[in-house]
This record gives sequence, C-alpha cells and structure tokens, in this order.
Amino acid sequence: MPAPVVDEAYKKAVEKARRDLRAFIAEKNCAPIMLRLAWHDAGTYDVNTKTGGPNGSIRSEREYTHGANAGLKIAIDFCEQIKAKYPNITYADLYQLAGVVAVEVTGGPTVDFVPGRKDSVATPPEGRLPDANKGSRHLRDIFYRMGLSDKDIVALSGGHTLGRAHKERSGFEGPWTYQPLKFDNSYFQELLKGKSEGLLLLPSDRCLVEDPVFRPYVELYAKDEDAFFKDYAESHKKLSELGCKET
Ligand code: HEM
Repeated sequence: MPAPVVDEAYKKAVEKARRDLRAFIAEKNCAPIMLRLAWHDAGTYDVNTKTGGPNGSIRSEREYTHGANAGLKIAIDFCEQIKAKYPNITYADLYQLAGVVAVEVTGGPTVDFVPGRKDSVATPPEGRLPDANKGSRHLRDIFYRMGLSDKDIVALSGGHTLGRAHKERSGFEGPWTYQPLKFDNSYFQELLKGKSEGLLLLPSDRCLVEDPVFRPYVELYAKDEDAFFKDYAESHKKLSELGCKET
C-alpha cells in the first residue's frame, strides 16, 4: 500500500486522534494492552530482509492469531473505533500513536511521534517476537534482528512497568509492579529485589539482572528515573519507526 500523504489535514487528524486516544485509554484503563499492540506490530521487523515492522499487519487474522499475540484482538478492536472516525490515518500510524499515548497518559515520557507509516497485510512468519521462557542470548537474537541494541533491550523491557500477564493468554499470571497502570521505574527496582510477593518475573525479565552487560542499565534505571525515561523514549521511538526511513 502507498505511504499516506502527510499534509496539514493528515497532521490535524493525527492530533485529533491523539486527543481521542487519551480520553479512550483513560476511560477504558487499557494503556497496557495498547502499548503491547504497538510493540507486537513493530517487533516483527527484520533488518536483513526489511520485512515486518510497524505496518499495521497485526490487524489481519493470520497474524493476530500467532501465539505471541493472544489477547491483542481486544486492542485491535479498540483502535477500530478510532479508525472509524479518522479513516485516512493508516493502521500503522494509529497503532504506534496508541502506544505513544499509552505511555504518556500513565505518567511516562513523551515519545516523539512522526506520522507517515505505510500499511501492509503481509504476514511475517510466526516466531519473530521474543519467548518469555528464554534468556539473554535469545533476547539478543530477536532484538539484534530488529536492528536494536543491548541498551534498547533493557530500556524497552521497562514497558513491563505497565500491565500484567493473563494465564489464558500467555500461561503466565500477574503484574510486574504494584501499580501496573503507572509508568515509572518500579519495574527495575522490583527486578533488583528479585521475586516479590504477588509479582511476576519472567525468565526474560530475570536475565536482565543476570547478564553482565544488561545489569548496569537495570541498576541505572532503578536509581535514576530520568535516565530511564530519556533512554526509554529514544528506544521506543526507534522501535516505532523500524524500517520506516528506508523508503
Ligand atoms: C505483557 C513477554 C517485551 C510491553 C507481556 C506478557 C508476556 C510478555 C509473556 C504477558 C501477556 C499476557 O498474558 O497478557 C515479553 C517478552 C519480552 C517483552 C519475552 C522481551 C523483552 C516487551 C516490550 C514492551 C512490552 C519491549 C513494550 C515496550 C508489555 C505490556 C504488557 C506485556 C505493556 C501487558 C499487557 C496487558 O496488561 O495486557 N509481555 N515482553 N513487552 N508486555 Fe511484554
């Protein structure tokens, strides 16, 4: 599909959609699942073949039925309500906008949003998203394939400051922090404490404190929320624009 023409009218529609998303997410308390949708649409990117990425393809049944995407149809349907009001905005832009707004309205940093993403219905092969049962080597395989770095891996894992796992979706259960609707650095503080009562720690979270290269970032982000917010905002922007600059 062609890239959208990002003229004044398009930018105006994006600003209106942003306001609607703020209200929608606040009303439905759905920031976590909106952020997860944005991440799973973008996180299929392959820097070598230039396939996947933030292109709205997760809306197709072929992709949202991938095991890693269990539950995300809820967020796809939420976005459909906004799309109905702003049909010119691409799905690719809308999902990434929803992710940026989810972070912002829960108290996180402002992530710069540049519109203009193209839609696609090409389904990436299943298995491009990370497996929570695996450790550092796997995380590096997956994130390096997207063209992202060690720092991006740790900063973006801080997205687990929001939301929770659901047994019927992933097989895991529970939140990572005691305030799962607040975007802050408590994910890293909990990581350093180890397993706390009632909180979740996935193998893919635990490896961040065990790996000698990841751990210094965890320590920094746990003690300095500003450093976390700055790095998170940069990494999230990169994630949200994977593959968008080349064409
Ligand atoms: C939820 C794995 C990275 C944001 C989850 C769940 C799993 C998971 C298993 C539970 C899903 C459910 O049962 O509903 C992973 C793994 C990652 C990773 C293995 C590798 C590093 C990220 C990143 C972000 C993110 C980079 C965003 C920047 C979220 C959010 C939820 C979530 C917000 C909560 C969703 C909800 O409450 O419905 N993740 N994730 N995750 N993930 Fe991740």
